[in-house]
Amino acid sequence: MSFIFSTERRRVTDRLSAAKWRALAACLEKKPGCFLYEVVRYGPETGLYLHPGYYRVCSPSLWQYFLVRKHVKAKCERTHPLMKLFGQTGRKLTLTALFVFLAVLMVACGSANNTGSPTTTTATNGKGCKKIGVLLPETATSARWDNNDRPLLQQLIPQDLSGATVDYSNAQGDADTQQSQAEADLTKGDCILVVAASDSVKAAAIVAKAKAAGVPVIAYDRLIQSSDLAYYVSFDNVKVGQIQGQYIADHYKDYVSAGHNNLVMINGSQTDNNAKLFNQGANSVLQPLIDAKTLTKVYDQFTPNWDNPTAQTEMEGALTTNSNNIQIAYVANDGMAGTVIAALKAQKLNGKVLVTGQDSTVAGIQAILEGDQSMTVEKNYALEAGGTAKLVAAISNGTDTSSLTNGATTATSTGAAIPSILETPVAIDKSNFQQVVTDNLMKVADICKNLPTTAKYLPSGYCG
Ligand code: BGC
Repeated sequence: MSFIFSTERRRVTDRLSAAKWRALAACLEKKPGCFLYEVVRYGPETGLYLHPGYYRVCSPSLWQYFLVRKHVKAKCERTHPLMKLFGQTGRKLTLTALFVFLAVLMVACGSANNTGSPTTTTATNGKGCKKIGVLLPETATSARWDNNDRPLLQQLIPQDLSGATVDYSNAQGDADTQQSQAEADLTKGDCILVVAASDSVKAAAIVAKAKAAGVPVIAYDRLIQSSDLAYYVSFDNVKVGQIQGQYIADHYKDYVSAGHNNLVMINGSQTDNNAKLFNQGANSVLQPLIDAKTLTKVYDQFTPNWDNPTAQTEMEGALTTNSNNIQIAYVANDGMAGTVIAALKAQKLNGKVLVTGQDSTVAGIQAILEGDQSMTVEKNYALEAGGTAKLVAAISNGTDTSSLTNGATTATSTGAAIPSILETPVAIDKSNFQQVVTDNLMKVADICKNLPTTAKYLPSGYCG
């Protein structure tokens, strides 16, 4: 196996001799500038979660990372990455390389012929940009990403910025996939990125790559821990947790009695900054109740990837360990609340345990009307997507954004203060659930679809 090379920036056909390999490696070693490679196949078997297309790499270490990730990385790190890597390829290259056809040395080695896909953008720092990359993190953890955020961003960005196109990708919970998707967007010439990070820390690499290409990144909903982030648009996420905790503080008396005051906390994913903020907000209200022994916390876990089935397993375990003696379930979102309720149903405890949620999904509202879930938190996604669209338009038009952010900033763990738009979340329970219809998050027909007419808190005549 060997790579197929050319000094031209296009798919190539000639096979390199070992001598030419060394020449190329030496060239890169002397002047390791930006260069390109092309991935012609995508697949987990390659260890490269990169979609087909041209990729630009501006540092040997990144080059090395992409090529040898999971396979020969450790070996290559011991000596010079390029020479060592190149030296290995002819002899024992793994499947990683099988589907990667290297196309080119560009800047450093003086290649010319620009016949490949565009890798640079005409917009600098977003000015004049009309090609917007929108990268969302998952679909399975919450219905919001596909039902609300995606369509709203696809609609509102071109509405606020005439002629804008949206390049949409979803990482399905994989931070590496998201990075590859962002790189593919940059390669295609997307010149502003809107990123809801799959991993708040790892996504800093996306911001770094974008910055190198003169592309501003707006962190959408989830903060990215990078000082180079241009903007952050979200909700007040500590407030989200406070609302959940306050609901428990206001209603626990309906559920607890002497010796029966046990609380479980099923938090979101630790790689999502929001999950930590929700937990922080909830604890600010719950800790005094725990300290006073009004509530006894018997279980407290973060849930990797916000995985809904894992939340069910967590709840089943907590029920078993506590012989079903649980009265309050702090659950970080509606998706996980749904599976926690399934665990309660199996023990005929649904409706007898206070269960929180978040996101005001259709399933969450229905569970509230059935009496199985106690509350949810409405986040009016139209405000979040709308603020993002306005920022995109302002960046592109080169107009002042201070009237959008109003001086608000958010601190990153890297010590930066990122200009921010932070919307206000709202508590929803059986008494005000109709607000989600007023705020256009869903229609009455959505709520009523497959909802039993006998649902405990369904107002008479509401579903016709
Ligand atoms: C969002 C929540 C969502 C969760 C899981 C968080 O970052 O803010 O709305 O429920 O991710 O997708």
